[in-house]
Amino acid sequence: MLSALMPVEASEQAAQTDHLFYMLLALSAVILLLVLVLVVTFSIRYRRGSPAPRGKLPEAITREFEIGWTSATFFVAVFIFWWAASGQMGTLAAPPNAIEIHVVAKQWMWKTQHANGAREIDELHVPVDTPVRLVMTSQDVIHSFFVPAFRLKQDVLPNRTVQTGFRATKTGVYHLLCAEFCGTDHSRMGGRVVVMEKDAFARWLSAQPEADTLADEGRALFVSRGCAACHADASRVAAPKLTGVYGSRVKLADGRTVEADEAYLRDSILQPGRDVVAGYQPIMPSYAGVLSQADVQSLVAYIRTLAAPKSGEPAP
Ligand code: CUA
Repeated sequence: MLSALMPVEASEQAAQTDHLFYMLLALSAVILLLVLVLVVTFSIRYRRGSPAPRGKLPEAITREFEIGWTSATFFVAVFIFWWAASGQMGTLAAPPNAIEIHVVAKQWMWKTQHANGAREIDELHVPVDTPVRLVMTSQDVIHSFFVPAFRLKQDVLPNRTVQTGFRATKTGVYHLLCAEFCGTDHSRMGGRVVVMEKDAFARWLSAQPEADTLADEGRALFVSRGCAACHADASRVAAPKLTGVYGSRVKLADGRTVEADEAYLRDSILQPGRDVVAGYQPIMPSYAGVLSQADVQSLVAYIRTLAAPKSGEPAP
């Protein structure tokens, strides 16, 4: 009955969020009812002229009462926090086998790109019952990727890669909105998410015009922008070589050790002076303002393909 008032539940996350919402609603209703009953009972019992006793309560009772309701409230709050947080963490972190889709937000459109290079504008086609990982960045200001039917809302920041994930559970067409005021046409920055059956999606994907994949574009940029001069395996310049760097642990000049994930690769291109690899001079120039966000995404995608193949896994 209540669910008729809610937007469609079209993802795992949506079902979880709604459970939490209904639980909080029920809990609030119980508390409301309790307070209401007490207010009414006491107003009748202690109305003017009634003979009800009005003396002081024994101290032991009031103390136990206070300890009781304070700790009960505390544990209920902790339980709700644990439930909400564990649900969010679980669904938003996409599993490693998730299909990956890159998203670039800009005033005022959503550009999406699939692993095989297929691009879309203000549209996103995804297969049903398949985990999807969104790797997102913004070309200009802060936007927010919002799909109400998935109960998914994630801010998308310039100069930063943010990730989120979902698993659609129902085929259909759903609204995609921008939920962060980003300028004149913010209200019109939107599109649709099309959830398709798996085979229909495969057909749709293969029918898209041939395009270079992100990694192909990145490889071309790697050469044309001069990265290869220092970072190619054959280069004699003392620059960190990139084969196998993705996913590895990198020791930095200041003693820290970081994981070379997407954010690290991206920061190393845009703010090379920040995390200098141990044993190297900080001589790399920053590419902030030189490369577009999409270029950086392509380069990072290319560097990822240089990852050393794990045993038992085919080389990319
Ligand atoms: Cu983009 Cu609001």
